[in-house]
Amino acid sequence: MMHEVHREAIPARAHWSRILHKGQTLRISDTEVVAFSQKCTHLGCVVYYEADEHRWHCPCHEGNFDAETGDVISGPPLRPLGRIDVETRDDGMIWALGRSQET
Ligand code: FES
Repeated sequence: MMHEVHREAIPARAHWSRILHKGQTLRISDTEVVAFSQKCTHLGCVVYYEADEHRWHCPCHEGNFDAETGDVISGPPLRPLGRIDVETRDDGMIWALGRSQET
């Protein structure tokens, strides 16, 4: 299923979890938006964006993931966060297309 949100609805470098079912997004610039699954790859807790550290944080066992790539920074997780493919269209709408196949 595809979901959509207008780009202007996402502040730069903001965590915006409401637009994607079980997903999170991060707007990096006017043109770049990334999205990840909220599910931690360790034991499945929900991760949250920490703006001060610019990372995704899992409070269950202190796992941390890079905000822009989803790669593991520290803690027990061994795999990166699941990437969700998004597409920014000419009209400014951002569509979540589904889970990336590369994870
Ligand atoms: S469930 Fe996230 S670090 Fe353990």
